[in-house]
Amino acid sequence: MSLPENRKKFEELINNWIMLEDNTITTAADLMGQSENPMVKTIIDLVKLDSEKHKRILETIRLSLNSAVTFTTDDLMIVDTFIEKHAAMEKNAVRTAEQALEMGSLPLPKLLLSHLLEDEKNHDNYMNELTKIKAFMAKDT
Ligand SMILES: [Fe+2]
Ligand SMILES: [Fe+2]
Repeated sequence: MSLPENRKKFEELINNWIMLEDNTITTAADLMGQSENPMVKTIIDLVKLDSEKHKRILETIRLSLNSAVTFTTDDLMIVDTFIEKHAAMEKNAVRTAEQALEMGSLPLPKLLLSHLLEDEKNHDNYMNELTKIKAFMAKDT
């Protein structure tokens, strides 16, 4: 990654990925607009919302390629507070989603609930990852 050529290729890859996400967002918005059915809208929106999230994260990665990212002690404190206040909520969300999935009986809501449960598990894992991410941030403080 340190070679300028690799860096250029990496940036191209990120740019292509952002374009893919943009295409998804446009197609999904178009199709959602064609339906009045809330379930149809939601199952399409599920991917659109994820694509919007992916695009935003990729844009931040791209930004960090062209400017040195540094963190202040205040930045670290905010991340710390977030981990402290939020970690338990994600664990609670996993338990809640598991219960809802167990109680649900209709196939479509169950499918959406099982998708959400995976999301909540990811958030829970992410809160653990954040502790590691924070250690990296601390090196740049
Ligand atoms: Fe994506
Ligand atoms: Fe969550």
